[in-house]
Formats: sequence, structure tokens, C-alpha cells
Amino acid sequence: MTELVRKTYDHMKEKQLGEASGHDWWHTLRVYNMAVKLAAALDRPVDLETVELGALLHDIEDWKFNDGDEEAGPRAARRWLTECGAKEPLIAHIEEIIRDLSYKGTEKRSGMETLEGEIVQDADRLDAVGAIGIARCFAFGGSVGNEIFNPEIPARTTLTSEEYKDKKVKSTTVNHYFEKLFRLKDLYNTEEAKRIGLERHEYMKQYLKQLLEECQAENTQQYNLLTKQ
Ligand code: ADP
Ligand code: NI
Repeated sequence: MTELVRKTYDHMKEKQLGEASGHDWWHTLRVYNMAVKLAAALDRPVDLETVELGALLHDIEDWKFNDGDEEAGPRAARRWLTECGAKEPLIAHIEEIIRDLSYKGTEKRSGMETLEGEIVQDADRLDAVGAIGIARCFAFGGSVGNEIFNPEIPARTTLTSEEYKDKKVKSTTVNHYFEKLFRLKDLYNTEEAKRIGLERHEYMKQYLKQLLEECQAENTQQYNLLTKQ
């Protein structure tokens, strides 16, 4: 771990400890650990410092909490790295990773420009699925006042990115599986992420099936959609 990574690690830990919106320090730490693991599983050379910094700084700010300002994150990362005396190409690369990272609802491909960015994106997405993904998504849904499940609100299976970002339209947490989480399995960049992502995908399907059966929701759109995932 370089001095810059160590400093950034400590800075983000102090900044994010105690945030409960799903962007807490523990999310950042999981993404960091996963990114390092994905980098190690590759058979190609990768700049580890960039991967580590990208993972640590990826949620430094969030457009969801900054009036939709997608530049808030890249700007804050630049400010921090400049303060630490980092070199311009590295700063620009981290800025680009943060800018391109977030899921906006319509992706067919990653949108990342470099392998380092692809690894950080995979690590972030893997934290939205599996057992931890289930926990985070119910925590997030609760924090914005969404219902767990409401059979009268159908999942929107074709969303534009404007619709995905629009918080005025209420959806349920169960619907978020169909609006985002089940789609991630086709969007991983690296082989190792695909493998882990598929395992986590199967686990989420099994979980949601049980949840809907406990809700006696076998005749709903959501239960029907589940068999197609
Ligand atoms: P990330 O930091 O993983 O890119 P986001 O910022 O998109 O994730 O969201 C944080 C967490 O909250 C993720 O686990 C995501 O799946 C979840 N989440 C985002 N939007 C919703 C929603 N409308 N309902 C439930 N969970 C959501
Ligand atoms: Ni994240």
C-alpha cells in the first residue's frame, strides 16, 4: 500500500464512518477489498494504486444526495488528491473512473475507459448483489421511505436513465431487483466478477422466491418475472 493509498484510506474511513444510507465506510471497505481481489485474479498487468484509490474514493460524493450533480464526486476526489500532492495523470484517471462508474438504469456495456475502472465498477456492482446486496437494498429502500413489497406497484422493466434517477416515482424495494439488481449479472467486465456475480445472482433469486411465497404473491407480475431471471 503506498503512502497516498494509506492516507486516502484513513481519510475516507473518518469521513464515512456512521453514514447509514448504504454509502457507509463498510461499503467502501468491501469494494476496496473486492477490487484488490479482482485485480489479483487477472492475468494482465494493472495499476494497483489506481484500483485502490478508485475504490476508496468512488463514493466520496453521490449525485443522489447532491441534487443530481454528477460532477460532485469527481470534483471532491480531485480536491483531495490535489491536496495530497498526487500527479495530474493519476488525478484525471481517478476522476474519470468516478464519473463513469455509476449505474444509471440503461447500461448495455460498462462505459469504463480503462481496466482499472472496469475493476472498480465490478467491485462496486458485486456489493449490490448477494446477501450483502439484499441487506443494502432494504436498508436503502427504508431510508427513502419505500415499501418492501406492494403487489399493486408493478416493476418497471424498461426504464430510461431519467426514469431510473427520478426519485418522485415511488417504487418498492422488491421492484428494485427487477429494475437493477438482476440486470447486473450480464454487465460484469472481468471473468472473476462474472463468476462471483452469477453465484450471488442465484442466491438473490432464491431469496426473492421465498420472500414472495411468504407474501402469498405467486400470482403477481414480480413472481412471474422471477422465473425469467
Ligand atoms: P453503489 O454505490 O453500489 O453504486 P447506489 O449508489 O446505486 O449503489 O445505491 C446504493 C445501494 O442502494 C445499492 O445497494 C443499491 O442497489 C441500493 N439502491 C439504489 N436505489 C435503490 C432503490 N430505489 N431501492 C432499493 N435499493 C436501492
Ligand atoms: Ni458504491
